[in-house]
Amino acid sequence: MADQDVRTTMGPGPSGIPSLRWDEPPEGPVLVLLDQTRLPAEEVELVCTDVPGLVLAIQTLAVRGAPLLGLAGAYGVALAAARGYDVDEAAALLAGARPTAVNLGYGVRLAAGAYRAAVEKGVSRAEAGAVALAAAKELHRADAEASARMARHGLALLDELLPGGSHRILTHCNTGRLVSGGEGTAFAVALAAHRAGRLRRLWVDETRPLLQGARLTAYEAAGSGMAYSLLSDNAAGSLFAAGEVDAVLIGADRIAADGSVANKVGSYPLAVLAKYHHVPFVVVAPVTTLDLETPDGASIEVEQRPGQEVTEFTAPQVPGGGWGSGSGQPVAPLGTQAYNPAFDVTPPELVTAIVTEEGVLSPVTGGGLRELCARSRQV
Ligand code: MRU
Repeated sequence: MADQDVRTTMGPGPSGIPSLRWDEPPEGPVLVLLDQTRLPAEEVELVCTDVPGLVLAIQTLAVRGAPLLGLAGAYGVALAAARGYDVDEAAALLAGARPTAVNLGYGVRLAAGAYRAAVEKGVSRAEAGAVALAAAKELHRADAEASARMARHGLALLDELLPGGSHRILTHCNTGRLVSGGEGTAFAVALAAHRAGRLRRLWVDETRPLLQGARLTAYEAAGSGMAYSLLSDNAAGSLFAAGEVDAVLIGADRIAADGSVANKVGSYPLAVLAKYHHVPFVVVAPVTTLDLETPDGASIEVEQRPGQEVTEFTAPQVPGGGWGSGSGQPVAPLGTQAYNPAFDVTPPELVTAIVTEEGVLSPVTGGGLRELCARSRQV
């Protein structure tokens, strides 16, 4: 059974509700998510009491974005252990919920590995569950710290690339507090520039079809008080041509061993535009998003999503259904086939730099990525 309970907490506006939190009410442990399908119209908490409920939340994008998926996966294992489910089965279900963001499997493996190691030492299942929960909490803490370090490295890189000090940054999808234990990845860099008085404007791609840019990034930008403008994805070309973009900053779902970057569909066209217009194209991602076991871009599995997300349009305030719920208004003739990949892959030669918490890699090379990974394992 997929068990989810919905609590409306307060009206629109970034209220500081965490995107994800562990709670232990008397009825038993739960994972509480800020339901991202309902933003920005409503801030609604989704309470997951079991693993199928959490898998559904992942698949419907109530919880989303690579680093946050890692945390959801790790806490999901802890939830399974605390509720007495088979942890191996739960781990397989969670890791398979969405294929592209490598962080999901990473978080699941981390917590499940901690659980198994504890069981092998002969501790009780309850104690092993506590070990899995501690691993999830540690990943959460480390993710918040990684955000802060990426923001510092990213701002220093922007200052180096754009000495003028008044940056107009274009971003795609959503990479802020909603996807992280901290302030996010690419958005955290824009936020650091804003706080330093060096962000002139954040250009926010709406990010069709599920509008993570319009619904989520604009919501976070409004909450931070930065100057921002929303544009439809296909307006980006004319914005570059008008000389209005100084840099592109995006996140990543998986970075292959050759430096190919999978991110929200629409990222690759921005990289091509950036190259043509001699604008830096910068990827900001924690080391947990680097996947040395996937050799190249062609080997990255790109999630294909239901065609309904393209053939229908859903307003977030529709009762009983947020974005992607399939309860939308048709915008194409009945029976229309859709092409709906959730991600695309940008080759390394189009990426100016990858910013991680361990430092900046530019140019992007396989050897450089291996060094970053090795550095992160030493700390
Ligand atoms: O399908 P989503 O909304 O989970 O896709 C998210 C993205 O593509 C983000 O840009 C990516 O996860 C980086 S978040 C730091």
